[in-house]
Amino acid sequence: MSNEIITDLENAVEKRRNFAIISHPDAGKTTLTEKLLLYGGAIHQAGAVKARRDQRKATSDWMEMEKQRGISITSTVLQFGYDNFQINLLDTPGHQDFSEDTYRTLAAADNAVMLIDAAKGLEPQTRKLFEVCKMRELPIFTFVNKMDRPGREPLELLDEIERELGLQTYAVNWPIGIGDRFAGVYNRRDQTIHLFERREHGSREAQETVISLGDPKIEKYLPQDLYYQLKEDIELLEELGSELDLEMVHAGQMTPVFFGSAMTNFGVQLFLDAFLDYALKPIGRQSSVGIVDPTYPEFSGFVFKLQANMDPKHRDRVAFVRVCTGKFEKDMVVNHVRTGKTVRLSRPQKLFAQDRESIEEAYPGDVIGLNNPGVFAIGDTIYVGSKLEYEGIPCFSPELFAYLKNPNPSKFKQFQKGITELQEEGAVQIMYSTDDFKREPILAAVGQLQFDVVQFRMLSEYGVETQVELLPYSVARWVRNGWSAVEKAGRLFNCITVKDNWNRPVLLFKNEWNLNQIIEDHPELELSNIAPVG
Ligand code: G4P
Repeated sequence: MSNEIITDLENAVEKRRNFAIISHPDAGKTTLTEKLLLYGGAIHQAGAVKARRDQRKATSDWMEMEKQRGISITSTVLQFGYDNFQINLLDTPGHQDFSEDTYRTLAAADNAVMLIDAAKGLEPQTRKLFEVCKMRELPIFTFVNKMDRPGREPLELLDEIERELGLQTYAVNWPIGIGDRFAGVYNRRDQTIHLFERREHGSREAQETVISLGDPKIEKYLPQDLYYQLKEDIELLEELGSELDLEMVHAGQMTPVFFGSAMTNFGVQLFLDAFLDYALKPIGRQSSVGIVDPTYPEFSGFVFKLQANMDPKHRDRVAFVRVCTGKFEKDMVVNHVRTGKTVRLSRPQKLFAQDRESIEEAYPGDVIGLNNPGVFAIGDTIYVGSKLEYEGIPCFSPELFAYLKNPNPSKFKQFQKGITELQEEGAVQIMYSTDDFKREPILAAVGQLQFDVVQFRMLSEYGVETQVELLPYSVARWVRNGWSAVEKAGRLFNCITVKDNWNRPVLLFKNEWNLNQIIEDHPELELSNIAPVG
């Protein structure tokens, strides 16, 4: 391998930053995404991403929409340049789109941005996604949004993050006033004050007035009480004493916190600049041959998400591959670990919002979309050169369960084929009753959308009309110490035991309360909300 290639790779890795935003619906993810793209020059006027969201909200039949557009609406990887960096924003679908894909996307991310509504603090979906980030030890950057509206005290919000998520916080900037009296933020990095100008939706980059803390003109800009409050707050922050420790940030133990208002663009640039300084560049990943550095000259990557097109006229599937090492080039022939075959990667795509753009090359930290006529499954490794395999992607705890019924016995074969393929593809998890007479598969999902997709695809791709019968459970736990532990525990109240696709025992509970009771009564059961990789 020539030195030139290695230097090219090193440069590409140095410049790349990859992240996903985790948030609860309505915290402002669409708005923030849009503003980041605006600053990145990827769009010229805010509104483009939002229009997409509104279209999505406006139609209840998302599959109709998929059909009309001919391409998927849920998959998006946004790549944009900013200040000499190549940034990859992995979109985690929210709202009604919430599915296992949302979790899996985090397997391909190097950093996470936790977006919080200042009035609401931590919310359920954010907590769930945080758990996945924690498992992966991802660096987490917090953006407290909607400071222009009445919200909670900033210290109270930091305290909530520390207490409930066990993350140390370091406020990189600090808000001056809140709601009607929000006057701007104090940037602790260079002791400057960025003044907020109230305006309606900012469709262009905000022009901020910046003054230093010691500037005598400050009294002209800030009401006296807010100025004194700020000085007090700064003293308090100094007394609290934590320093920004990048090692802890990179280990997912400390979160740098930013305050702003995405809608008015305020604080977005401050955030982006600091994020690029602090975020982790693509780093080595665990594989069957140990940790492989991204600058390893041969190409390798893994599939973290599959997307089926709902339009029968374009029945293609796209496999999303996170590039881990080496340089990807169009038409490359790679080895596919699971099947032992070679595959030519033609027609690779980069996705920007709804548009697909063909790509010639990609580097570690990038995501490419590959046409996938049934070759790839979630977690598959592809590589060039000596064999290596990345750790698979685990199954995440489902919260919705339903029997999938096939009322037409003549379709038995198609039904089985469909279930097997959709399971392999990761569209839904499949479990089975331990009762031998109950052969119907149990669909297990994290979002309702997954059921809709299964039913739709069973009909359109396998010709089987199915029925879904919801089950009254909402919590699942894998029993890590296996069937013998389940047998030893004897009769378990208020839960049922089922088996997953790999014949591993899973307990289903109606609610958390029932789960806690079992934990208390049976400490010998090792329960986990994430399945070992199957
Ligand atoms: P999501 O993708 O996380 O679900 O959130 P989204 O960006 O769609 O934002 C949800 C709502 O919150 C939107 O209002 C949006 O304008 C508003 N919002 C986002 N950031 C801020 C902010 O910094 N300050 C304030 N005050 N509001 C913010 P909406 O009424 O649903 O839509 P629209 O009227 O803006 O179209």
